[in-house]
Amino acid sequence: MKIIKGVLFLLFSCYGFYGYSQSAINMPVKNMLLNGTIFTDTQGNKVHAHGGGFLKSGGCYYWIGENRQNNNLVACYRSLDLINWEFRGNLLSRNSAPELESANIERPKVIYNEETKMFVMWMHYELRRDYSVARCAVASSVNIEGPYTYLGSFRPEDNMSRDCNLFKDSDGKAYFISTTRNNLDMNVYELTPDYLHVKSKIATLWPGAMREAPAVVKKGDYYLMMTSYCTGWKPNQGKYAYSRSMAGPWSLFHNFGSPTTFDTQPTCILPIEGAQSTSYLYVADRWDPAEYPNSSYVFLPIIFKNDTTLEVNWVSSLSVNCIKGTFTTKINSPQYCRIKYRLSDNYLSPQPDGTIGYKGLSYKLQTLKWILSEDKEGYVRIKNQESGKFLDAKNEEAKVVLADSLNLDSQLWKLKTNQEGWSCFINKLTRKALQMERSQQQPEYLIQSAEIEDVNRKGKQQFLIAWEYQ
Ligand code: DGJ
Repeated sequence: MKIIKGVLFLLFSCYGFYGYSQSAINMPVKNMLLNGTIFTDTQGNKVHAHGGGFLKSGGCYYWIGENRQNNNLVACYRSLDLINWEFRGNLLSRNSAPELESANIERPKVIYNEETKMFVMWMHYELRRDYSVARCAVASSVNIEGPYTYLGSFRPEDNMSRDCNLFKDSDGKAYFISTTRNNLDMNVYELTPDYLHVKSKIATLWPGAMREAPAVVKKGDYYLMMTSYCTGWKPNQGKYAYSRSMAGPWSLFHNFGSPTTFDTQPTCILPIEGAQSTSYLYVADRWDPAEYPNSSYVFLPIIFKNDTTLEVNWVSSLSVNCIKGTFTTKINSPQYCRIKYRLSDNYLSPQPDGTIGYKGLSYKLQTLKWILSEDKEGYVRIKNQESGKFLDAKNEEAKVVLADSLNLDSQLWKLKTNQEGWSCFINKLTRKALQMERSQQQPEYLIQSAEIEDVNRKGKQQFLIAWEYQ
C-alpha cells in the first residue's frame, strides 16, 4: 500500500514533468547515470551544479549547485529519478545583489525551515580574484526555485570560512560546517531556529588536519562526516569520522574509496528514503583542474557495514529506484592509470626531450595515461597510452626514458607499495629505484637511484597508481 501511495504521489506532485517537459523537446530519457562523464540536462545542455546539494520538495529531487557560466552563480535542476535533470533556472547571478557583482560562489546548499516555511541557502563567498575573503553568505526564498533574497556575506564569529556544508538534524536543528584558519581546521556552528544566522560555534574539529569538502549524514545514533584533504582541485584520499553529537568528540579518520577517492571530492551525502529502507549516495565532484567547466560528477552507493563503518566502491553507472530506495549498478574495470608523484601532487608525463617529468592533472591529456601489464616474476611493464612506448632504464647513469617495446629487463619494474598506496618502482636490470630529480636548467625528470628509500617515508621515490575510473 505504502509503495502504491508513493508512486501516485510522485506521479501527481511533479505532474507533467516527463509527460510535458521531456517529450516537448524530444530528448531521449536516460536510464543510467554515467559516472565521471559530462552530465546533460533534459534540453541537452551541460549540467552546472558543481559543489552542489540536494533537497526533496513537492515530490521531486532538486539539485542546486555552482554555475560559473556567464554571470550565473547558482543553478537549480529537478528530477524524479536522479538521472534525468530538468534545468529550472539560476537562483543567484552576479545581478542578484551589488555584493555579488564580482563574487565567486562555491558549494551552495539549501535546506527548508518548517517553522518559517522558507528555503535557506548557505554558501562560500569569495571575490573572483582569489580565496582571501573567506566568508560565508546566506540567501532565502519562499519557493525552492526562487526568487532568492540575498542577505549578505560575513565571517561567522569572525572566523575565516571556506569549503562548507549544511546539515539539518531530525530534531529540526541545523548546523553550518566550514573550513577555517586558512583551511587548517573545520568549525561546526549551530544555526538560529530560522537558519538565517549562526547561533554559536559548537566545535573546532581536527586542528591542523587541513580537511575540507565536508558532507554529513546521520545513521542511527551517529553523525558521520566525509571530508577530503586540501589539495586545490586535485583529488586526494577521502576520509570519514563519526560522533554521537555534532559537537563531538569525533572519532579518528577512516579512509573511504581509492587513494584519490576515484578522482573525486565530496559534495554531499544523499539519503534515498525508500518504502522499505533508506539507502545513501556519496555525491562528489570530479573537478577538472585544467578546465573547470569540464568538471563532472560521480554518484556512488555508500555501503554501511554498521552505523559507524562505511564503504564506497566504484560503479561506472547507476540507476536508482527512488520508490524502493535501491540501486542498479554496472562496473567497468579500469584500463589506464595515471601515476601521481607524491611530493608535488602532479602526474608522470613524457617531456619533449624524451625524458619523463610531470604535469598537472587533466582528464583529457592522453600523455598522462599509462597501461600497466604484468610480466614474469611479479614485474610490470609500463606503457604510455599516447606514444605506445615503455618506461625504460636501459642507460644506468642517465635519465629514465620512453623506448620502443623491447623484451629487456630494463623495461621491467617491481612495485613496493606501502599501506597508503604509495609505491617505489625498482628496475629489474639496474636494481635502482625511480626517483624524481631537479636540475637548475631543467624542470623535474626521472632518474634511477641505487639508494632505495624507506617506502613508508614521504619522498622523491613515491608514486601512486591512480586508476582511471570510468
Ligand atoms: C577545493 C574546494 O573544495 C573547492 O570547492 C574549491 O575551493 C577548490 N579547492 C579551489 O582550489
